[in-house]
Amino acid sequence: MPIEADKSLKHLNTFGIDCKARRFVTIKTKEDLKAVLATEKDKPLFILGGGSNMLLTKDIDALVLHIDLKGISVVSENESEVIIEAQAGENWHQLVQYCLKQDWGGIENLSLIPGNVGAAPIQNIGAYGVELQDVFVSCEALHIVTQEEKRFFRPDCQFGYRESIFKKEAKGAYIITSVQLRLSKKEHLLHMHYGALQKELKERGLENPTIQDIAETVIQIRKSKLPDPNQLGNSGSFFKNPVIDLDTFQSVIKAHPEAPFYEVSATEYKIPAGWLIEKAGYKGRRFGDAGVHDKQALVLVNHGNATGKELWELALRIQQTVKDQFGIFISPEVNVY
Ligand code: EPU
Repeated sequence: MPIEADKSLKHLNTFGIDCKARRFVTIKTKEDLKAVLATEKDKPLFILGGGSNMLLTKDIDALVLHIDLKGISVVSENESEVIIEAQAGENWHQLVQYCLKQDWGGIENLSLIPGNVGAAPIQNIGAYGVELQDVFVSCEALHIVTQEEKRFFRPDCQFGYRESIFKKEAKGAYIITSVQLRLSKKEHLLHMHYGALQKELKERGLENPTIQDIAETVIQIRKSKLPDPNQLGNSGSFFKNPVIDLDTFQSVIKAHPEAPFYEVSATEYKIPAGWLIEKAGYKGRRFGDAGVHDKQALVLVNHGNATGKELWELALRIQQTVKDQFGIFISPEVNVY
């Protein structure tokens, strides 16, 4: 495994930020991973997957491990369902496409989410009414210090909205090497209740859609709102949708009866951060090459040569304006380094 020095990460993060890794190694097998950890575990390490959920604000003064483990296999199956295992370095969307080709259902709503399989459990990826936890069986992870392999089953992962144990007490402790999912082979349970999806299916006249129809519709909606990282650097939603208490919710609705919201519980509501950011006047704005997407204000974009610092300054400015205007704190969804 050759270790490269001063490697540019521009093409390895979807924001397209030109930061460097002081040392960099691509990991193709679990054996290689164990070997690297055995010699490097006491030195600073940085785990890089698909680079789709991070903002680099400085060069990485560590050994960057680019996890490139590949493979999709069937663990077990019966007449109605299949359990598959995908290695951490598989591209998430390619996995979804592979499953759709076999007519395996469960992750069609999660089409076109950028990033790799290994990162999916960390933030419990979700879109259009489905979250990874709905199909998740387990993942295998390697402890960085002890190099012990551990299997995390669904309850172990403490999944929540864009949350898991890997963002909390196990943060930075493990490298996820593979993920197992339970998918349906027939009588697929379709998730069509998400507003934008329901509307688009209706417009397309798809009353009894297949899982492939749902995937195509989701892809269409995403393409119309979310920029393609190959054309415009971005990291999907930059902020999480904030969960607010009843008092705050009532004051927002009083001032803006048109505000979209979701009820989380009797005392908690979620207001789309994209709506708050748009109301705060940032949608489509640009400060140098750092900007806010013109079709979805939740997405920060790199118009060319923005630095991570410039994007982070913009994020902080947005956060402050939303706080001043609505009394609501929006926290980043992406990992900022
Ligand atoms: N909205 C605005 N202005 C905007 C953006 C949104 O008013 O600029 C309003 C929309 O009109 C709608 C509501 O906010 O009423 C929700 O918008 P949307 O359906 O686009 O979803 P979202 O809540 O903004 C979340 C996820 C997305 C996911 C979509 C669909 C988070 C942080 N983001 O966005 O996930 O694709 O729902 O399920 O939860 C990602 O995580 O990277 C991501 C793209």
